Amino acid sequence: MTIGFDFDALRRYPDIEEPNLFAVDASDRLILDEAAELLAAVGPGEVVVVGDGYGALTLGSGARDVRVFQDSVVGQRALVANSHGESYRNLPLGEELFTGARVVLMQLPRSLEELDELAASVAHWAADDVILYAGGRIKHMTPAMNGVLARHFGRVDVTHARQKSRVLVASQPIRGTLAPTRRQFHDDLGLWICATGSAFAGTKVDIGTRALLAVLAQAAPHAAIAIDLGCGTGVVAAALARARPGIAVLASDASWGAVESTRLTMAANELTTVTIAWDDALSEQPDASVDLVLLNPPFHLGGTVHTGAASKLFAAAARALRPGGELWTVYNSHLGYRPELARTVGPTREVSRNTKFTVAVSVKSDALNEGQ
Ligand SMILES: C[S@@+](CC[C@H](N)C(=O)[O-])C[C@H]1O[C@@H](n2cnc3c(N)ncnc32)[C@H](O)[C@@H]1O
Repeated sequence: MTIGFDFDALRRYPDIEEPNLFAVDASDRLILDEAAELLAAVGPGEVVVVGDGYGALTLGSGARDVRVFQDSVVGQRALVANSHGESYRNLPLGEELFTGARVVLMQLPRSLEELDELAASVAHWAADDVILYAGGRIKHMTPAMNGVLARHFGRVDVTHARQKSRVLVASQPIRGTLAPTRRQFHDDLGLWICATGSAFAGTKVDIGTRALLAVLAQAAPHAAIAIDLGCGTGVVAAALARARPGIAVLASDASWGAVESTRLTMAANELTTVTIAWDDALSEQPDASVDLVLLNPPFHLGGTVHTGAASKLFAAAARALRPGGELWTVYNSHLGYRPELARTVGPTREVSRNTKFTVAVSVKSDALNEGQ
């Protein structure tokens, strides 16, 4: 790692910043310490970083011409904001990212499917002598992760624990064929759902999403422009585009895997009226420009359960809606988002509710629009 690299100077911005949310954690430091000897020995362009939160691994590695894959566009923007002329390149998951890589530094993803996809890609394309350092907080790690890595590497070692973190070190890549993207046909919806490893709910349809789909026909029936905000696999956007061929739909998500899944879902269903955006909370969408926003909000910020993630999307929807436009939100009934939706967007009523999920519609009020 770079001697004297100032981890404390890293910021989460433009992600939510609060005293209990951090831009770097002990697992970043452990990954860099475990890889330190090799990082000092390899040449420019031979280091790849995967899943960097806010730049700790990329900038702390001290390596030149680092290739970087971050699923989150927010993380990618934070890395730009934290860097000061260091040489690195963001690339999508694929051949150009990994070819010739000799050291791969990785923050372990939450899902085993995503780890499988990443490990398979490293093993398929990286150099014969590649070493993968995949670390995380022990509370988020499971023994099954070792098993996933062992499918793609001849050797997997586990480092000692330090500050509640650990690193899995994989070497001797097994060149395999890359698995095709998963897809599933849902008879009840008449739709294919495609999913990369990081997409929410995989190829299944979440029960909250089902509650939203059940009332979709009632949502702003005359809408000309709609947004599926936090589109995941694109299931809501696909259902809307299928039901209303005349409507322009934007499917937007901060996750690269979600955007890629949505692209595949639209292609599989031959839906051509859906535009797809990799964006943080509609940052590229003009104010007061849409009639309808559909939202099944996240409840995590990285590994932390945090309502700020949902609040950020409520505010984004309020800004993008024209006066009189509608935000349809599904949420766990115990979360009771209704007062916040009314404050942020406008008058809000429950459309459906059971013990698990509530669907509410909020109508964008003129007054709130003028006040912003
Ligand atoms: C609960 S999932 C819903 C996915 C999909 N709409 C469904 O119902 O299956 C929430 C989605 O919001 C996305 N998300 C989280 N924060 C976001 C942000 N700031 N901007 C855009 N999308 C975001 C996540 O990547 C995730 O795909």
